[in-house]
Amino acid sequence: MNSRLSPQVFVPQLIKGAPRRVLCRRGHTQGYKAMGSFHSDNVDDLMSQSDGMYTPPLLPFDITPGVANDNIQDFISQSNTSSDFMLDRETWTFLNHGAFGAALRVGYDRAAQWRYHLEQQPLRYFDRDLLPHLVYSARRLADFCQAPVREGTTLIPNVTFGLNSILRGYAKTYGNDAHVILWDTSYGSLKKIAHQCCNKVTEIPLSNYFDRWGNARKEGPEEDIFQSALEETIDSSEQSKSLENALLILDHTTSNTAINMPLQSLSRIAKEQKMLVMVDGAHGLLAQQVSLETLPHVDSYVANGHKWLSCPRGIGMLYCPSKSLQDTVLAEPAVMSHGMGQGFQTRFLWDGCRDYAAALSVPAVLDYWRSRNLEQVQKDLESKLHQAVHLLGRAWHGRETGVTLAPLDIHSPMMALVRLPDHLQKHPTNATSADAKVIQDFLYENYVEVPIKDIRGILYVRISCHVYNEISEYETLASTLAKYRQ
Ligand SMILES: Cc1ncc(COP(=O)(O)O)c(C=O)c1O
Repeated sequence: MNSRLSPQVFVPQLIKGAPRRVLCRRGHTQGYKAMGSFHSDNVDDLMSQSDGMYTPPLLPFDITPGVANDNIQDFISQSNTSSDFMLDRETWTFLNHGAFGAALRVGYDRAAQWRYHLEQQPLRYFDRDLLPHLVYSARRLADFCQAPVREGTTLIPNVTFGLNSILRGYAKTYGNDAHVILWDTSYGSLKKIAHQCCNKVTEIPLSNYFDRWGNARKEGPEEDIFQSALEETIDSSEQSKSLENALLILDHTTSNTAINMPLQSLSRIAKEQKMLVMVDGAHGLLAQQVSLETLPHVDSYVANGHKWLSCPRGIGMLYCPSKSLQDTVLAEPAVMSHGMGQGFQTRFLWDGCRDYAAALSVPAVLDYWRSRNLEQVQKDLESKLHQAVHLLGRAWHGRETGVTLAPLDIHSPMMALVRLPDHLQKHPTNATSADAKVIQDFLYENYVEVPIKDIRGILYVRISCHVYNEISEYETLASTLAKYRQ
């Protein structure tokens, strides 16, 4: 069975005649335990319970057959992952998952079920159902990321919220000694937040090193340009001031340039200097394995659920295993509410009355990916991306290799930048973002959604590749661009 529900007809049913255990399962407690006047258990306690002690909360509504639940195998399409998404792929060639993601139907439906349940009895939802289910989502995400300290994982609405929490808290904790080190390739808004919060911000000029990739290809063993760039920054700072307690911000995958940073080696180097290390993992979850236990030198990792994991928008994750950093740098979430002065989860899980449906969709989405065989999905994504790059390379440059910004094993497994054909480049190489926009607009007008980037005066297309994408779509990109006239 493979039922599909359109949003209009979707009406989840509250369990009628359900056992009292389901509707009143928490019974009476002695006083308030969570925060404010919520009638829930303490969320820090729930988060730190061992698997043996913890009982996952039951869903408080009936699950329509065929929609995400334990028998998720019934729901996913066997033939075509494309229909598990709601994208209008009849009209659009959609090659820009990297920008804002695209939601899986299974998560969208689960979020809708929660919204409907909320409106049937708002107090039952907010007072009693919400917090235990948020904890369940946080526990599931922690396990998905192999977090060695599960209770160091909490939910946030998005990466921006996490970056704000960390940078404001860092500036407040370290005052005039605060020193943020990021990269010229870091996400634009992160740079603005850093400058807003801290007087001292150092930008590592990573893109100055990009040319060395081209040389390494010809000359043999590849230099680790990330390491060289970081070490040069460290060497130049050491003469002036120690970098102890400086905050180094790494990207799991950079946004505009789609390159993966070697997190293990860079965080180890930073720790030798006694720096704090944070990872912007906006493009981490699902696209690549996020195994927090393999990153012992990372103090904090922030991630988005709505990008490659394909949850509905409004769910992210913040990981910080150190209790002392939780209680200093992360003492204040970017939005403070009833949980202030209490435990890490209690401070972060509730940031005021808003729509938490995306966070509540996480278990359904994780079940979906598990049923798809995650490891295989990740392998297939990478190999499809490489095929797409080769196809565009042949179409635009007459060869498959040497056509990307970075070598393919440095580009992320699900996004890469392919150089546009020579006749679309500016000579000398001084293309601007305005030149990029004209071409992107042309593609958009022809129903191809893909971003054009200018990187150091050269124009590239940044292609995304998710499970719904097909090789024929990259052919469409090539043939559509062939019609472009300057
Ligand atoms: C590398 C990187 N960091 C941070 C963000 C911000 O994510 P959000 O807008 O979901 O907070 C993005 C968004 O695309 C990103 O690519």
